[in-house]
Amino acid sequence: MSRRIVVTSALPYANGDIHLGHLVEYLQTDFWVRFQKMRGNECVYICADDTHGTPVMIRAKGEGISPEELIARSHAAHLKDFTDFEVAFDNYYTTNSPENRELSERIFLAAEKAGCITAKTSPQLYCEHCRMFLPDRYVKGICPKCGAEGQYGDSCDHCGQTYAADELGSPKCTTCGAAPVVKDSEHLYFELEPQHAYLEKWLPGHTTEDVSNKLLEWFAEPLRGWCISRDAPYFGFEIPGHPGKFFYVWVDAPIGYIASLSDWCKRNGKKLGDYWPGADGSEGREDDQSTEIYHFIGKDIIRFHCLFWPGMLHSAGLRGPDKVFVHGFLTVNGEKMSKSKGTFVNARTYLDHLPAQALRYYYACKLTGTTDDMDLNLQDFVSRVNADMVGKVTNLASRGAQMLNKNLEGRLGRIDEEGAKLMAFARERAEAIAKAYEDRHFSLVPVEVCKIADAANAYFDEKAPWKLVKTDAEATRTVLTNILNLFRLMAIYLKPVLPAYAAKAAALFGEKEWTWESLSTSVEDSKIGAYEYLATRIDAKQVDAMTSAAAVKPAETGEVSHESRASKNKAKAERSSAINSGCQGEDAGGQAALKAEISFADFEKIDLRVGKVVSCETVPKSSKLLKFELDCGSLGKRTIFSGIRGAYPDPAALVGREVVFVANLAPRKMSVGVSEGMILYAGEPGKCGGVVSPLDEAGAGTAVT
Ligand code: MSP
Ligand code: ZN
Repeated sequence: MSRRIVVTSALPYANGDIHLGHLVEYLQTDFWVRFQKMRGNECVYICADDTHGTPVMIRAKGEGISPEELIARSHAAHLKDFTDFEVAFDNYYTTNSPENRELSERIFLAAEKAGCITAKTSPQLYCEHCRMFLPDRYVKGICPKCGAEGQYGDSCDHCGQTYAADELGSPKCTTCGAAPVVKDSEHLYFELEPQHAYLEKWLPGHTTEDVSNKLLEWFAEPLRGWCISRDAPYFGFEIPGHPGKFFYVWVDAPIGYIASLSDWCKRNGKKLGDYWPGADGSEGREDDQSTEIYHFIGKDIIRFHCLFWPGMLHSAGLRGPDKVFVHGFLTVNGEKMSKSKGTFVNARTYLDHLPAQALRYYYACKLTGTTDDMDLNLQDFVSRVNADMVGKVTNLASRGAQMLNKNLEGRLGRIDEEGAKLMAFARERAEAIAKAYEDRHFSLVPVEVCKIADAANAYFDEKAPWKLVKTDAEATRTVLTNILNLFRLMAIYLKPVLPAYAAKAAALFGEKEWTWESLSTSVEDSKIGAYEYLATRIDAKQVDAMTSAAAVKPAETGEVSHESRASKNKAKAERSSAINSGCQGEDAGGQAALKAEISFADFEKIDLRVGKVVSCETVPKSSKLLKFELDCGSLGKRTIFSGIRGAYPDPAALVGREVVFVANLAPRKMSVGVSEGMILYAGEPGKCGGVVSPLDEAGAGTAVT
């Protein structure tokens, strides 16, 4: 009987690019879904962009576009990356959809009605300039424990202490540099304790043992509430009945799975209730098992999927997933992905240098269905792809098919007794391979396929058809028929991993779409098509070119530190035994307020020049501005207003210094006068930086670009 299965991958943040780490998840989910479809099951692969939250809002602001424009751009880019990696979603939607708003409201109201929502007031940092409450990552100050400067609002990178943002010494808003004030704000909490017994019972059957055991440690104590509201301005959905309060992004993100499914149902004439029982508003379907629901996620987001999510669904009377499949993180050459080493590789950068199917094959070789981290060893990657996928498997097809086409009119003969034995050996692997797919132990698939390839290659070498063809055409035809049929079975086995490859291979045999059933047939007495190349060797040079393209110079440390910050946050979330979460701590995950990448063409428009500071003074009534007079050599004198007073309590000290400035910026009329350029100032947000000086080499007025 065919199964009905709904499968999801976690929704990638709209705020960042897809990278090779993400692909650990999307590729394995795709393998699994394609396998299910091949088996004749109805399987719907659902995903979407995770669009809401502060990082998207701030980034859009920085780029001067609306959040909607930003998320539309990401959606297109993400979908293109996925498509080029042969990840075939049945629906790739967005969490910023009417369906998601409607479902989020409905689930929240049901939880509220069930008494699971409470309100609590707590003091929080508020930036009067930006007019917003500051999430932890948007405030920096002095660590209350060790006194280190420039620490974020949740923990100190220097001493490791964790604290509340309002405990920081002289806190500053990282967006504008202003000192925030403390304001009371009321927040809504989703209470987990009423579900203590339910979740304790639910967990063991719905994820792997290591995951559930770890989560169950927290059940010795009462489960604390989870803060689910955020203050305006927030890019997200307003909470019904609570004006000015928005759903925290992690509320509507998983609901986005159902919303995307709902959109798919609408467009395919299906009923949502048949795929996610109860989600269409019908009642009493929590134990409906007519459909199977599975989430694939990384280990950093376990508590959202294994506690909050089933808790939320249960309180609203909806059924939860059957299983949450958790995978580990990607390491490259045994280490955490690193921007400076060029091992933090975006999907697009990879595709610029290497074929998608090589990574698909390699990831399949490495995935074992556990939460262990998975290593992409770049040397091993090249050799596995070349030695096994190309050398052992594909070569049989290319040599066999080309020989048959060249010498024997491309006509297959019949499989003989020897061939039949080899075919039986190949078919005996079917059960083990199917089990490997089903259990997500994908690494066993290439292992089994290589056993067949080894036998086939031994046979090929023994028969030496390239010699035989000179003396016995029909015997050669038989050998090649055996070989090509063996190859065909291997390609069918590999189809979930290598779909485009398998489609071309099927075409070689004049077949359309292979299913698992295709394993039971053979192709004899027919003409094969022209051999279309299936896979080529990859070169270490392509890998080097990719890592060079991905490498960020250590000088551009802003980005590197954001990266390590993000991983630290994730690691911290992992370590933390607190099931509850504060209201400001969890917007981590996207890159912080780094502006969008610009092209060289954009950069080239800027004309940088050097000027000598003739005078520098404070501006009455402005706490931020300094007024500069610059001697710009051939360009004459310029007046520039610069908002960097905070960094130079004694502006006179700048007189005589050389600074770099943007000379071709349109003059800007300000209330205090006209500013004729922009002085370059560098530093991390919130920390003191300084003006950029050219030292002694360049003279005033010299172009430095
Ligand atoms: N937006 C949330 C998920 C919401 S689901 C309702 C999120 N997004 S993410 O873009 O940070 O990550 C998407 C998925 O990719 C997550 O399952 C995450 O664990 C996985 N990975 C992100 N980086 C990864 C690695 N470096 N290695 C392996 N998987 C990784 O979390
Ligand atoms: Zn501010």
